[in-house]
Amino acid sequence: MVTQPVFQTERLVLRPLDPRDDGQFWRLRSDPLVIQWADGAPWPNLERAREERLKLQVGMDACKWYFWALSEGPAGPLIGTVCLWNFTTNRKDCEIGFELFPSRQGKGLMTEAVGAVLSWAWSALFLEGVSALTNRENLPSVRFLQRCGFVSAPIPESWELVEVEAENQVYYRLDRPRFLT
Ligand SMILES: CC(C)(COP(=O)(O)OP(=O)(O)OC[C@H]1O[C@@H](n2cnc3c(N)ncnc32)[C@H](O)[C@@H]1OP(=O)(O)O)[C@@H](O)C(=O)NCCC(=O)NCCS
Repeated sequence: MVTQPVFQTERLVLRPLDPRDDGQFWRLRSDPLVIQWADGAPWPNLERAREERLKLQVGMDACKWYFWALSEGPAGPLIGTVCLWNFTTNRKDCEIGFELFPSRQGKGLMTEAVGAVLSWAWSALFLEGVSALTNRENLPSVRFLQRCGFVSAPIPESWELVEVEAENQVYYRLDRPRFLT
C-alpha cells in the first residue's frame, strides 16, 4: 500500500484535509457553481464537512482512495481538492475528481495540481490509466480534461451507470504515458 504524499508545486501545496479546513470545505461543497454538476444537495452545515473529512480519512488510511486539499502556500486556506478514487480491483485504473472555488478558477491552478498528482500516480501507483466522468454540459471540466490530455471514449460497460445518467455523462480517459512503459 502506498501512502499519500504531500506535494509542493510552483503555487500550491497539496496536503491532507485538516480540521481547520472544515469551514472552507463546507463553503466549497455548498457553492452552487462548484456543485452544480455533482450528485447530492449542497451541504447544510459545518458538521457535514467534518463528517466527510473523517470518512475520507478512514479511506485514506486504508489507501482506498487519495484525497488532497489544495492551498496556496502551506498555511493557506483550502481552495479546492483533487482525488483519486474508484480504483479497479487490480489497482491499475482509477477515477479522478477535482474542484476549485470559482474565485480560484481560470488561473491554471488545477492543471498544476493534477499534473503533480498524475506524475506521482504513474510512478508510485503504476497506474495504466485514469478515468473521469463529467456532465457533457460541464464545459470547464471538459476543457480542463482535454487540456490535460484526456481523450473521450465510450463509457465502459462495467461502470453500470443508470441510463439517464449515462446520457448526460461523458467519459474521458488518460492512458499511462508511453515514455514510462
Ligand atoms: C473543472 C475545474 C477545476 C476547471 O478549473 P479551471 O480554472 O478551468 O482549470 P485550471 O485551474 O487548470 O485553469 C485553466 C484556465 O486558466 C487559464 N490560465 C490562466 N493562467 C494560466 C496559467 N498560468 N497556466 C495555465 N492556465 C492558465 C487557462 O487558459 C484556462 O482557461 P480556459 O479554460 O478559459 O482556457 C473548475 O471548473 C471547477 O472546479 N468546476 C466545478 C467542479 C467540477 O465541475 N469538477 C469536475 C467534476 S467532474
